[in-house]
Amino acid sequence: MGKRNNRIIPLFQVFMAPSVHENVKKVLYSGYVGQGPVVDRFEEKLSKFLETPYVISLNSGTSALHLALRLVGVGPGDEIISTPMTCAATNWPILAAGATIRWADIDPETGNIDPESIKKKLTKKTRAVIAVDWGGYPADINAIKNAAGPIPVIEDAAHAFGSVYKNKMVGTSADYTCFSFQAIKHLTCVDGGALVVAERKKFDRAKLLRWYGIDRQKKTGDLRIEIDVRDFGYKYHMNDVNAAIGLENLKHTALLISKHRHNAGIYRKAFNNHPDVNLLREDPGYFSSYWLFSMRVNNRRKFFSHMKLNGIMVSRVHRRNDTHPVVSGFRTNLPGVDDFYAHLACIPVGWWLTKSERDSIINAVRSYAA
Ligand SMILES: Cc1ncc(COP(=O)(O)O)c(C=O)c1O
Repeated sequence: MGKRNNRIIPLFQVFMAPSVHENVKKVLYSGYVGQGPVVDRFEEKLSKFLETPYVISLNSGTSALHLALRLVGVGPGDEIISTPMTCAATNWPILAAGATIRWADIDPETGNIDPESIKKKLTKKTRAVIAVDWGGYPADINAIKNAAGPIPVIEDAAHAFGSVYKNKMVGTSADYTCFSFQAIKHLTCVDGGALVVAERKKFDRAKLLRWYGIDRQKKTGDLRIEIDVRDFGYKYHMNDVNAAIGLENLKHTALLISKHRHNAGIYRKAFNNHPDVNLLREDPGYFSSYWLFSMRVNNRRKFFSHMKLNGIMVSRVHRRNDTHPVVSGFRTNLPGVDDFYAHLACIPVGWWLTKSERDSIINAVRSYAA
């Protein structure tokens, strides 16, 4: 049995570096807790980690997605091509922008949006394409860009901090890449996010729009009172408290990801020839950060009961978004999503697993028969 002191082996666990409290304490009593020098330092470190210059930290991944749509200029009457196989946070910002969603199908072997389906969904009203890196496995951004032509591509990499696409860091290929630093991600700020933009000009605008449209660098005689706002913005910035948490946690992220990858490698070997469990595809040059370990299983309900009996938490993690009543008007036939969602099972893969827990998971999966 996989139970830890009668507790089920969890699918997620919050990582908090032991040094966080010291640094947070310093910020809390420094007299300044808003967006300041610690946010600047966090952004420098993120930029280094992601190997890309234009990184702006925000208060959530959802804000990053909304801001990306705003930078593209999405508004009422526009259509966004997106995938339903994701967190609601990917798609609800489209609704917030007043636009409509055209669902593209996914590749059921990866869970990621299918570039061929994107081609079929393009219309004169298409303003952007959103791709999600399911579980950390990078979407094929080059093929998506080819399919989208001049239409900008927004990558929702909330699952994929530290993933590698065609030997480049995720965050360096799309026009806009959105990351989440909420509680259970590889890197947490408790809550937080980041937007990476490819163009310098968009970067400057993003900085304005994250804080009401006001330039925080400009000095005037009376705080920022004389600055003209030409473009309304949001209150989406990160503060120094969350950045202090992120800075400390970021020191450990590479090691945490390597543990996820290590466990995933062991699972892939162990389940390779399982008659009722199919591994997702992995192409050369793609390195998932394995926020999730997703598999396709025969008789999913039976598999879930079997794992639960063995004390192991399993889940599909996200409900396919197209079945929510709020988007019922956009329903369409998506055989790839049907197939993937019917068989999807995510098992614990993270840094928190002990060897004996990992062995219990392997034994439980191996002993499963549909
Ligand atoms: C795929 C995906 N996109 C976006 C988000 C939103 O991120 P946040 O919770 O930081 O707003 C999440 C969430 O947690 C997510 O899993």
